[in-house]
Amino acid sequence: MRLNVNGRPHEVDVEPEMPLLWVLRDELGITGPKYGCGIGFCGACTVHIDGQPMRACVTPASAVQGAVTTIEGLGTPAALHAVQRAWIEHQVAQCGYCQSGQIMAAAALLARNATPSDADIDDAMSGHLCRCGTYPRIRAAVKAAAT
Ligand code: FES
Repeated sequence: MRLNVNGRPHEVDVEPEMPLLWVLRDELGITGPKYGCGIGFCGACTVHIDGQPMRACVTPASAVQGAVTTIEGLGTPAALHAVQRAWIEHQVAQCGYCQSGQIMAAAALLARNATPSDADIDDAMSGHLCRCGTYPRIRAAVKAAAT
């Protein structure tokens, strides 16, 4: 099957029901999206499909119709996405495990709502769990990236 990931075409030979997360990590070596719960609950595996945040652990590879973007494709070290820049400036990450999913969710939020309220931010980020409790810094960084 063919997948477009981070602007590059890929041909992968996998079972159709294989979760996109495993295709990305095990077949393509794209390890930014993380495995947390495997049941669509924690958000660590979040990627964009045509700009929409999706949980790659519960998305079968065969269901992917659009372009996939992972944290690796959001920005580059030389040209960070505004959310990535804000994350660094606010030193959001603690252990870091959930952060690529958090950043992808925040980037999707700002793409559809450039000036989110606190409630909008909390709503968009509510399904993203952080065991380190970085939620206040996440909210601050999202607000900073929005300005
Ligand atoms: Fe996909 Fe938790 S690993 S939502």
